[in-house]
Amino acid sequence: MSESLSSIVSVKSASDASPVRAASARPCVAVVGAGVMGLAIAWRLAEAGCTVDVFDQGVSGQGASHAAAGMLAACAEAEPGEDNLLGLNRASQTLWPAFAAELEAASGISVDLRTEGTIVLALNADDGARLRHLIAFQQGLGLPVEWLNGADVRRREPHLATKLAGAVWCPEDHQVDNRLVAAALKIAAQAAGAVLHEHSPVERVETVDGRARGVVVNGVRHGADVVVLAAGAWSRGVTIAPAAPLPVRPVKGQMLALRMDPAAPILSHVIWAPGTYLVPRKDGRLIVGATVEEKGFDTDLTAGGQLALLTHAWRALPTIEELSIIEQWVGFRPGSRDDAPILGASADVEGLIFATGHHRNGILLLPVTTQAIAALVLEGRADPLIAPFTAERFRPRAEAE
Ligand code: GLY
Repeated sequence: MSESLSSIVSVKSASDASPVRAASARPCVAVVGAGVMGLAIAWRLAEAGCTVDVFDQGVSGQGASHAAAGMLAACAEAEPGEDNLLGLNRASQTLWPAFAAELEAASGISVDLRTEGTIVLALNADDGARLRHLIAFQQGLGLPVEWLNGADVRRREPHLATKLAGAVWCPEDHQVDNRLVAAALKIAAQAAGAVLHEHSPVERVETVDGRARGVVVNGVRHGADVVVLAAGAWSRGVTIAPAAPLPVRPVKGQMLALRMDPAAPILSHVIWAPGTYLVPRKDGRLIVGATVEEKGFDTDLTAGGQLALLTHAWRALPTIEELSIIEQWVGFRPGSRDDAPILGASADVEGLIFATGHHRNGILLLPVTTQAIAALVLEGRADPLIAPFTAERFRPRAEAE
């Protein structure tokens, strides 16, 4: 690490907008985690002239980035009590088309952003009553959602169950192939000059006098001016003393994929139905997700989990019984204590920035997280959108004051 960069001025806290460094030179950055978050941040920072090293304990893009369904469901997943998160989700949803286009141009890989929208199904009167209540809440927030009756739904998706009580139509909730996004980001980040270190678990963030000086990987120190912790469900395992470990836990999800005929797919919209969601890919895969299990890093596929997904999916879309199962897998959502992301500068360690804890919304929140973290590193600008999501919200109040 060049000592000439020691004049860098660190962001001291999320509310301190002083630049991370003087504008004349770009910092050396270590990114912990080569999932979509880490790779996208590395891409943006390397493009802007930073020296960037990205470390992953395994192979890039193989954690939640690989396991996810790629839904950009800001409206369908909007629930009471998540107003700040909704603003962040909607902002990121708006950024997705330009982000995808730029990523495709930088990587030469199509990420299959599909814009057919999402339908949230009610299969019976009970579901219908629940969805009517939810749509009233969502419309009250000004979200673009509409009620469809059963006949409207089946006109759009003729293979769905014949008895439907109605649905919520979310015309702006699209989807992207998250595995293609991860592959494209790896290419884009490396083309921009970021160096990827796979099979390189970061044991700890090195701190000197309360500021980040690099990371320690397999006992070897790698110097850096700024460290970005983007290790998803594994973020808690990175020691960052004097700060406490981040309150991030793995939230297990089992999923599976069925094979449709890509020339005659049985579904074109993303479908949410009680107990499941269905995401049709351009290549003919039909993703069926997902269980939500608090079992730590348990990688078991269970008969009960898979049976539940298939049963719920079959009730909504009976023709799946003709399809082959082509893949079954487990993923780990990075859940924080309040299930909202942890974004922005550490208040305890200067030069340490968090981009983790995205829970159910990692792919959706990719563009806004990348944009906000890049602004923080490059300009010392704390985007107001991420202000509610600093790690400080988890401190005991007396300690924070
Ligand atoms: N956002 C979908 C899931 O977490 O399963």
